[in-house]
Amino acid sequence: MKIDILTLFPEMFDGVLNSSILKKAQEKGAVEYRVTDFRDFAENKHRKVDDYPYGGGAGMVLTPQPLFDAVDAMKEGTEHQPRVVMMCPQGERLSQRKLEELSEEEHLIFLCGHYEGYDERIREHLVTDEISIGDYVLTGGELASMVVIDGVTRLLPEVLGNVESAKLDSHSSGYLEHPHYTRPAEFRGMKVPEILLSGDHAKIEDWRRMESLKRTYERRPDLIKESSLTEEEKRYLESLKENNG
Ligand code: ADE
Repeated sequence: MKIDILTLFPEMFDGVLNSSILKKAQEKGAVEYRVTDFRDFAENKHRKVDDYPYGGGAGMVLTPQPLFDAVDAMKEGTEHQPRVVMMCPQGERLSQRKLEELSEEEHLIFLCGHYEGYDERIREHLVTDEISIGDYVLTGGELASMVVIDGVTRLLPEVLGNVESAKLDSHSSGYLEHPHYTRPAEFRGMKVPEILLSGDHAKIEDWRRMESLKRTYERRPDLIKESSLTEEEKRYLESLKENNG
């Protein structure tokens, strides 16, 4: 997958794209990141990328020309039609499903505005997706785009060593993950649940399913779809509700 990032602050990406799994993903050839300062595309002598809003008002607005030209340049040499993703608080709220959808693409282009708003023609005629990472406002789209890029990259084939681990994570199954434990079996008097030491894989699997349901019920009851639960899970959920009420 090719990922282009258009930003006025390219240095913000250095650490994130060159660490940990994202770094490994590039080394494996699963993804190619290209960070571009779209100020380089401004066709005016002061390299200005924003201007005052028509009709007056506070704040500056990103002008269309640098971003349209930058996106055209990013498309050169690729036959795949890219998704052009604008990071903004008014966008669709990010979800695991959205990350999965984006991870199927060949080419993504992220537009990261900073401080300013965008000229509406960018929204209407250049952008294919507007994404928000939550109901709060950041100083720019850079950090938000890093969240999306991280979430997409780890879903690409061969990026995670253990292919299963992406599938089993919180949210990809629709439920939160069960608790994990590692050695030692007892630490400062705190014990690992007996069942995990039993070696009985079927029982451990059952325990994990129920713990996952319990955690989801306690923290994110909105994620539970009762119609998709097994009879055993429904009974367990009822007992959780009784204990809580
Ligand atoms: N830019 C500023 N705030 C944002 C948010 N919450 N999500 C995406 N982009 C943003």
